[in-house]
Amino acid sequence: MSSTLRVPVVGGNWKMNTDGAGGVALAREVVGMARADAGVEVVIFPPLVYLERIGAAIKGSGVTLGSQDVYHAEKGAFTGEVSVNMLKDVGCEVVLAGHSERRYVMHEGDDLVNLKVRAALHHGMRCVLCVGEKLEQRETGQTDTVNERQIERGLRDVRADELDRLVIAYEPVWAIGTGKTASPEDAQSAHMAIRAVVGSIFGKEAAAGVRIQYGGSVTAANASELMKMPDVDGFLVGGASLKAGEFRAIIAAAQGRASEVGVQGF
Ligand code: PGA
Repeated sequence: MSSTLRVPVVGGNWKMNTDGAGGVALAREVVGMARADAGVEVVIFPPLVYLERIGAAIKGSGVTLGSQDVYHAEKGAFTGEVSVNMLKDVGCEVVLAGHSERRYVMHEGDDLVNLKVRAALHHGMRCVLCVGEKLEQRETGQTDTVNERQIERGLRDVRADELDRLVIAYEPVWAIGTGKTASPEDAQSAHMAIRAVVGSIFGKEAAAGVRIQYGGSVTAANASELMKMPDVDGFLVGGASLKAGEFRAIIAAAQGRASEVGVQGF
């Protein structure tokens, strides 16, 4: 039996919050705590306009700079958009694709999300593909079907050799910003099913190496229990990532759980 090592990854998705000075101050606090919490990869996703400034503040710290979104074209007449290379230029190493607020507030569909995933990976960036079901989909038993569709479409034409730069975030839409969190068992069940879908596309061994974050009202109070689940490889945190102490506790909960996972485990 072969095995793989998945280092937990915790992302702070600041969404449309902070200002320049506040963002830099928060980023500096994150840097301080990330140093103390080795064994976890920490990524922050500040608002686009502050990326360069915050990138300068965290340079060389070990905290990774990420963008909340990207456009797939390389350049041209796409008013308001930024390309992968522009993001790389300001020090971004990771992008989110398909966050539910992009899907349901900005009406992005699976095809556009797929273009973004491919553009990011093909240009050497790392990418977090976000998936998750809405409340009515969960209540009608469609959780795994929705995730399967979003994964299959989101990863269409992604190459196996790009998978090491992919992270998946399972974020049930009903749990985002609502204070409702998936139970550890429900999160594990969804993560396991997602890993199986990745396995059906790329093979079990490749899927065993892909990190799957949980997102949706993660707090210091629920992170440890979620982290006990074998297929939960860290968190994508919204509201709680804006409070340094809370984010620190979530990072600490993920610390040291670099799980040795056998490919027979799913
Ligand atoms: P939340 O957001 O932690 O505020 O629920 C998570 C996310 O949208 O990534």
